[in-house]
Amino acid sequence: MPSMDEIEIMNLKSYKKLFSKALTNQYSKKEIDSLFYVLVDFYLGISRIKFIQEPMFFLSKNKINLLDSKLKLIKNKMPIQYVTGKVLHKKLTFYLNENVLIPRPETVELCDWIISDQKNKISILDIGTGSGLISIILKKYLDNSNVEAWDKSIKALEIAKKNSLVNNVKINFKEVDVLKKIEFNNKYDLIVSNPPYVDKSEIPSIDVSVSKFEPHSAIFVDGDDNLVFYKKIIEFSKVALNDLGVLYLECHTDRIKSIKNLLKINNFKKIMIKEDLNGRERMIKAYK
Ligand SMILES: C[S@@+](CC[C@H](N)C(=O)[O-])C[C@H]1O[C@@H](n2cnc3c(N)ncnc32)[C@H](O)[C@@H]1O
Repeated sequence: MPSMDEIEIMNLKSYKKLFSKALTNQYSKKEIDSLFYVLVDFYLGISRIKFIQEPMFFLSKNKINLLDSKLKLIKNKMPIQYVTGKVLHKKLTFYLNENVLIPRPETVELCDWIISDQKNKISILDIGTGSGLISIILKKYLDNSNVEAWDKSIKALEIAKKNSLVNNVKINFKEVDVLKKIEFNNKYDLIVSNPPYVDKSEIPSIDVSVSKFEPHSAIFVDGDDNLVFYKKIIEFSKVALNDLGVLYLECHTDRIKSIKNLLKINNFKKIMIKEDLNGRERMIKAYK
């Protein structure tokens, strides 16, 4: 079979074969198919069903070059979400780049938990907003609420602001380092956070697509206390939550019992742990 460089014009079915061959040592067949269909849908507007109906779809040289450039990134282990630079969650669009964490399904589940609990107009603070995922979903689905979102990273805040504009929601974004002394004027009914919680010593055991491409400041904790963000956020929430206010945290399964203890020690009440769709204990809520 001729190499991709030698072929100038081909149909999509033939390209799929070359695409699969190029990735076969790195990904399973299922993963390769899924990557192919995401790319073809995103860059050519051809859905999986359309491909099945029209496998001989003609590819121009330009289109082949475009797909090849994306294939190169995927071969280099770049996550598909950074390749396309855009994801959809709950019908909302989130632009992404290397400055923000790729939104995870369990974080969307955390948002669903909050939305199902909250009926009234409330004031919300999202600590470590990243792409703006949590604050934008909450503002969209609890539209009477006031939402403030903090991050230490100016570059992450730029993306979050862009995402709020694209999704037509108004959020008050602020550059705040939550590990430093926090100046705050408002009190909140609800504080939510998915903070960094991975030890730097765990880097070698983490998939290269995460450790090479996702922002380390979003994932890893400096120093040897992987609960440092939880301690700080819980301590802050004790003073910054209104009476009967509620704190929601996304956590590593292995650390969730320790976080429950921290909440207890700090006199939080009605503490509840929730599993994600894979049956892992990943989120916790507690009332002031
Ligand atoms: C795990 S990511 C969560 C991003 C987003 N909320 C989500 O769930 O997809 C943690 C976020 O915390 C931010 N962060 C890290 N250190 C921080 C600090 N000291 N103060 C405030 N934000 C911080 C990172 O920039 C990153 O956006």
